Amino acid sequence: MKDIITLAIESSCDETCAAVLKNGRYILSNVVSTQIDLHKKFGGVVPEVASRKHIENIQPVIQKALDDANLTFNDIDIIGVTYGPGLVGALLVGLSSAKALAFSLSVPLIGVNHVEGHIAANFIDHKDLNPPFICLIVSGGHTHLVEVKDYGEYEVLGKTRDDAAGEAFDKIARALDLGYPGGPKIDKLSKIGNKNAIEFPRVYIDDESFDFSFSGLKSAALNYLNSKKMKNEDIVVEDIAASFQEAVLEVLVNKSIKAAITKGYDKIVLAGGVAANSRLREMFDEKGKEHKIDIKYPSLALCTDNAAMIGCAAYYDYLKGKVSDLNLNAVPNLKL
Ligand code: KG4
Ligand code: ZN
Repeated sequence: MKDIITLAIESSCDETCAAVLKNGRYILSNVVSTQIDLHKKFGGVVPEVASRKHIENIQPVIQKALDDANLTFNDIDIIGVTYGPGLVGALLVGLSSAKALAFSLSVPLIGVNHVEGHIAANFIDHKDLNPPFICLIVSGGHTHLVEVKDYGEYEVLGKTRDDAAGEAFDKIARALDLGYPGGPKIDKLSKIGNKNAIEFPRVYIDDESFDFSFSGLKSAALNYLNSKKMKNEDIVVEDIAASFQEAVLEVLVNKSIKAAITKGYDKIVLAGGVAANSRLREMFDEKGKEHKIDIKYPSLALCTDNAAMIGCAAYYDYLKGKVSDLNLNAVPNLKL
């Protein structure tokens, strides 16, 4: 069978990305142009600034992806692109480029849900991984516990009722003056902090629910910090980071393990930016061993936003005949 070459484009937040893949799971190139430095001074992503930067970056990033793969536009068989969820202005830059290319090259356009892309990152790194499995997707915008029944077939078991896990990391990091994005900074500081120093709440909602809630924990951490400041007491940043991190991760790990046991799965797959967290991986590895559940996570580069994961998801959609038409619009609050 002829190889299928996918060009994938991702621009849902603050990274302009393009990638080329062979047969869905093999990366020929993967270009990520990050805007982190641009947004750092604002303490978070500024949507309008992100859109403008995507416009500047998109063409050179796509060209670099082709050059790195030693291919030209004529070699492309299908185009995959993120059409939601994300920032509408940012999404439109990647989507318009993908539509223009699909039209001019007369190749199929495949709109991909960004969250599906995060799950698919695992298919690239683990060539023998196939559904079904339980997947925990934890990123700056999403916290989902999902039953992945087949390629492109999902049942959402639970999700966050307020803040996403990564968002909680970023907000606490900001309050601690650690800068943006906060997740990696908290991860690093936690290694030298005492995770038992402060007893922050673990919010399970109720025994039956697979939903998450992090706003109470976030308020508890902010209240703790403010009261220390008011009393002019010493603030041990690494202890706050480690204790906060432990409270977030404990709930994520316990609910995922419970979902796997309840639904009869022996495989849990992690996805999204927070899946890069070293303590999260350590806790999952430990609990996985204890319960004889196989734990898989993507390489660090494929945890955070990239286009290779979008290309992989697009490939499986294409095989199932799920092709978009050129009227496809950005859907900022697209659900899984
Ligand atoms: O998947 P991603 O790149 O973008 C979204 O789709 O949201 O995730 C970014 C999020 C940010 O909130 C960032 O702080 C968090 O992932 N993150 C981490 C780590 N690396 C990135 N959180 C905890 N520990 C990390 N090592
Ligand atoms: Zn993402």
